[in-house]
Amino acid sequence: MLTPDIAIIPEHVAIIMDGNGRWANKRGLARTMGHSKGVEAVKEAVRTAGDIGIKYLTLFAFSSENWSRPEAEVSDLLGLLRRFIRRDLAELHRENVRIRVIGEREKLRGDILPLLLEAEETTRNNTGLTLVIAFNYGSRDEIARAVSRITQKVKAGLIEPGAISSEMIDAHLDTAGIPDPDLIIRTSGEERLSNFLLWQAAYAEFVFMPDYWPDFDRALFIEALKIYASRDRRFGGLSARPAAVVG
Ligand code: IPE
Ligand code: IPE
Ligand code: MG
Repeated sequence: MLTPDIAIIPEHVAIIMDGNGRWANKRGLARTMGHSKGVEAVKEAVRTAGDIGIKYLTLFAFSSENWSRPEAEVSDLLGLLRRFIRRDLAELHRENVRIRVIGEREKLRGDILPLLLEAEETTRNNTGLTLVIAFNYGSRDEIARAVSRITQKVKAGLIEPGAISSEMIDAHLDTAGIPDPDLIIRTSGEERLSNFLLWQAAYAEFVFMPDYWPDFDRALFIEALKIYASRDRRFGGLSARPAAVVG
């Protein structure tokens, strides 16, 4: 596979995979068909990220708010995740992909949590792409859980309140040890975060694409990466790029 000519490859790309339902609607199909087609797009995105040399790919698979959808749709989505892990885990492992799961775990019922833990455990020593699956994930919930863990340590006398720093908060989030996303892509034309990586996105670049998630292929991924490479990230400082000639 030819590596595309992209000037700057982000270390961490996070994707809000949106528009499965509308993709299906447009074709007169049931929403569930959009979700199954979306799984194909997930596989292609993982392959592309690995080929290009991206180190971390975070995929928003199911939000803590998605439980409010009709029971049948929730059950379809859980079924697809189950199938994805059961069928594709061996292949991901062979491809040296390391899986991390972020999101609330304690309240998960049934076989989903053991499956996610198995995926993490099986691939923990892999050294290729880290695939971060955001499942039952909501950023405010994640921050609240981090605050709760820190305050427990304060109460136990392990941490001084004055020692609480931004790094310490980082280290208590589900994403501990994972660098902040450089690029956040959202498909389907919506331009919002929907409670995704609020803390971690502080200096992320955003690329919003009109395409529905099931249509997101290698070419669209590369298009987003090229837009990212054209951005001037300043982090509050001054541009590191040569000054543009004015006039
Ligand atoms: C994204 O597609 C999949 C999940 C949120 C799990 P949607 O199901 O949100 O599709 P739209 O936004 O209704 O088109
Ligand atoms: C965000 O999409 C969640 C995932 C992609 C898993 P939603 O479709 O749930 O977001 P809203 O409701 O349009 O904000
Ligand atoms: Mg949606």
